[in-house]
Amino acid sequence: MSTGLILGIESSCDETAAAVVRAGRDVLSNVVSSQVDLHALYGGVVPELASREHLRNIVPVVREAMRTSNATYADLDAIAVTAGPGLTGALLVGISFAKSLSFGLGKPLLAINHLEGHIHAALLQSTEIAANELTLALVVSGGHTHLYLASQHNGAWHYRNIGRTVDDAAGEAYDKVAKLLGLPYPGGPWIDRLSAFGNPEAVRFHFTTIDRGTPDQPTFDFSFSGIKTAVLRYVETHNMRAAATARHAALSALTSLAPNSSNAASMPSSSLSPPTASGSATRPTLDDARALCDTQTLNLIASFQHAVVGNLVRQTLRAAEHTGARHLIISGGVASNRALRQRFTEAAQHRNLTVAFPPPALSTDNAAMIAAAAWPRFLAGDFAPTTLNATPQLRLG
Ligand code: KG4
Ligand code: ZN
Repeated sequence: MSTGLILGIESSCDETAAAVVRAGRDVLSNVVSSQVDLHALYGGVVPELASREHLRNIVPVVREAMRTSNATYADLDAIAVTAGPGLTGALLVGISFAKSLSFGLGKPLLAINHLEGHIHAALLQSTEIAANELTLALVVSGGHTHLYLASQHNGAWHYRNIGRTVDDAAGEAYDKVAKLLGLPYPGGPWIDRLSAFGNPEAVRFHFTTIDRGTPDQPTFDFSFSGIKTAVLRYVETHNMRAAATARHAALSALTSLAPNSSNAASMPSSSLSPPTASGSATRPTLDDARALCDTQTLNLIASFQHAVVGNLVRQTLRAAEHTGARHLIISGGVASNRALRQRFTEAAQHRNLTVAFPPPALSTDNAAMIAAAAWPRFLAGDFAPTTLNATPQLRLG
């Protein structure tokens, strides 16, 4: 008899995650072991270290997800795992473990696209998006800035990609600009919070319109490498380099890696938020960072964020208008940004659109979204073969 319980496993980048979700809706457990402290020491994700940490964490993370769900392995209907896109070595850890569990338990295996997972993180909470209604989903993270037209027919979801970044992802731009200004990795949460202390209109940034489509079938593309270069030029021409280097040194001196931070025993549910980060690693606080930023730097940070969020909102609304979609889903790591949520909410209200965001803890990488996306595939019997392999460049739609 079906229990509706799916164990999801996610290891595509730098979070080892497992979750048990019932019928694609009720999150019984959600465990995320972040490697962010480790990679922060190198200013970005180091693929070899990521695979090694996933190997170390996968067993305790899955055990913890099962324990806190109060379900037994026998209760599970299926095992779902991220098959791509992501880092090959990182993906392989989750896939190998999921395949072994599926084989050992005699339960079906489901292969899930990480981007579909991000979309389902928002659907987990949304009650407004009905079947057969056209929905526009913006997945905006460290690796992706993609717009999809999504619709549900006979329970199954279908996606069509109608826009993407032609260079950097929005989260990547956040991280690179933060690095340039001497702020810790990942930079998104720091820029999010420091923006509140600057003038968003102080520096004007411009985006060129990119469209790879045809008049009949336009695309709604993004480009974030230009603004990154514009920030770099601003820093150079305003002699802000030395201060950024000093800021980096001062914030690094306040950072230490906890001896057990690579162990799932210290398991922050999300360690991306600087002022509230848990775990025993020492991190600078928002006040530390703010005290090290002069007004010019705070203005630059606020202006960068204002421009990026404005561009994401404008392109998404253009796409909604053109396609007639009445519902928006905004997900991925950058969707935890407070200004982005506020501006999308206001813009949607203004145009009579609904907008759904995942709760902030489910915006960044997690396995509840993988288990949720797996449910319609489980119902359709869309199982993965035991030969399932990692697909680092897996596309959606
Ligand atoms: O979805 P995610 O956890 O991993 C990927 O699939 O990439 O997204 C991580 C990205 C990073 O670039 C990080 O800086 C960004 O999301 N991010 C944010 C915020 N929180 C995370 N960007 C802006 N504002 C935030 N509050
Ligand atoms: Zn992601």
